[in-house]
Amino acid sequence: MSSRIAVVPGSFDPPTLGHLDVIRRAAKLYDELHVLVVHNPGKEAMLPIAQRLTLLEKSIAEDEGCGENIVVGSWSMGLLVDYAREVNAGVLVKGIRSQVDVAYESPMAIVNRHLADVETVFMLPDPSHAMVSSSLVRQVAGLGGDVAPFVPPAVAAFLDTGARGL
Ligand code: PNS
Repeated sequence: MSSRIAVVPGSFDPPTLGHLDVIRRAAKLYDELHVLVVHNPGKEAMLPIAQRLTLLEKSIAEDEGCGENIVVGSWSMGLLVDYAREVNAGVLVKGIRSQVDVAYESPMAIVNRHLADVETVFMLPDPSHAMVSSSLVRQVAGLGGDVAPFVPPAVAAFLDTGARGL
């Protein structure tokens, strides 16, 4: 599998400015970057996968910093590494905000390497996004707060139109 092709996987429920920062910077490092909405069996989702995919596509298309080498998709057919094999990606890129993220991501990185010899690269967020998480955004949006400082404009507009009741 190619070390020039990478996947940024995640629940993206919803996409945040932290996600966009990692996507933007990872796209500069690889020839081809797949941003993939993946079903996380351990989490109860707020938004259906199709909605998260639409928001991610719109957020990336509207972001001037995102290059032309980004492919957006979704995967709910099985293992993440099966998708990596399908697109010949040798690298997974994950954003790491804290030691909590390191503890959460490390076992997955080790398992994915054993399953398919795929390397995981951890990227530190820009400090301005270090405290942003989808779960906080869900909570703030659910309680009627303004999430615009934490999410791309397309996501803020969507959450603002009352669709958060989904
Ligand atoms: O944004 P998240 O929820 O932290 O992303 C986690 C995700 C979806 C990338 C992870 O749960 C995942 O890879 N799910 C696919 C199932 C899989 O491949 N599991 C085995 C390796 S961990």
